[in-house]
Amino acid sequence: MSKKIGILTSGGDCAGLNSVLKAVTYRAILGYGWSVCGIRQGTEGLLCDPPDVCELTLDDFDSATAKLGGTILGTTNKGNPFNYLMPDGTYKDRSKEVIEGCHRLGLDALIGIGGDGSLKILHDLFSKANVPFIGIPKTIDNDLGSTERSIGFSTAVEVSTEALDRLQPTAASHDRVMVLEVMGRDAGHIALSAGIAGGADIIIIPEIQYNFDKIVSKINELFKRGRNYALVVVAEAVKTQEGEALSVIDPVTGRAHYSGIGHYFSDQITKLTGAVTRFTILGHVQRGAQPLAEDRVLASAFGVRAVDLIAEGKHNRMVAWQDREVIDVPVLEAIEKYSAVDPKSTLVKTARGLGISFGD
Ligand code: F6P
Repeated sequence: MSKKIGILTSGGDCAGLNSVLKAVTYRAILGYGWSVCGIRQGTEGLLCDPPDVCELTLDDFDSATAKLGGTILGTTNKGNPFNYLMPDGTYKDRSKEVIEGCHRLGLDALIGIGGDGSLKILHDLFSKANVPFIGIPKTIDNDLGSTERSIGFSTAVEVSTEALDRLQPTAASHDRVMVLEVMGRDAGHIALSAGIAGGADIIIIPEIQYNFDKIVSKINELFKRGRNYALVVVAEAVKTQEGEALSVIDPVTGRAHYSGIGHYFSDQITKLTGAVTRFTILGHVQRGAQPLAEDRVLASAFGVRAVDLIAEGKHNRMVAWQDREVIDVPVLEAIEKYSAVDPKSTLVKTARGLGISFGD
């Protein structure tokens, strides 16, 4: 039986999303003869009258698709339809309008690509709409516990590693301590992997409580051994010594986002060691990069399997990567299983084995 499936990208963009869109479109059309309805700007597209959508066809993608960053459908991380910020500053439940938009399109199923927040909203919306839902995990934060990897993480780690590679020569040329602030709300996975790969001396993550005395002694020890520079990676969600999260409110969306811990660390290190420090906030360059092969492959495997799950009549499942295979798990279970960095994990032990300090 011919089906019409909807697809949308939701939450922050990341590298690899266009490979998912291609995989879903190709599998649906070539494998099952279905049509694919691309919904623009996440659920925002369903709030438009008429819904802002386009039919995705084989001709919309070619060999160059995989190397495109971002998402050709656009996305949103501000419009939770259950608690939607209206232009007058009030909040309104607009979930019914999204559901109506979905019914107007006559969708037989919907595939949503998102992180934990988006997947929860999409799951709740499409359960209410009685439309079978399949989730695909993407987040540079890699904090969904049911999947070993989420789309976008590998590319973000690569960008952060490259930043350390570029900071090292300038640090060594000027006898400086370089502090690199990387993303990861609220987990330290990017900082940990990039710190190991990029030869950091100190990695500060929210999961391990730091102490400035330990950071100072690590820097002094390096300098005593003849090193003239140090590389420090700090995850954006790390708090100040007083326990304050450094964030700013976006005046348009009303959403808080982290900003400033790299600057704070840089100032503290100068004050406590006398070293010349500089800080770099990597920010969204971690998201917009050309996707690494690893993210393209993962995205393709997730997209194909998501369509197959619909064909098998499964719904409210999320595809996940485990032991070299794509498996599927209940969406709600996947969202509940948050994965922060385990201080006893192999990668933390690896970093410690390399002499990297966590400031503890
Ligand atoms: O969740 C992905 C992420 O990139 C986080 O690492 C970061 O804190 C956040 O999104 C930034 O969001 P925004 O794009 O709204 O600034």
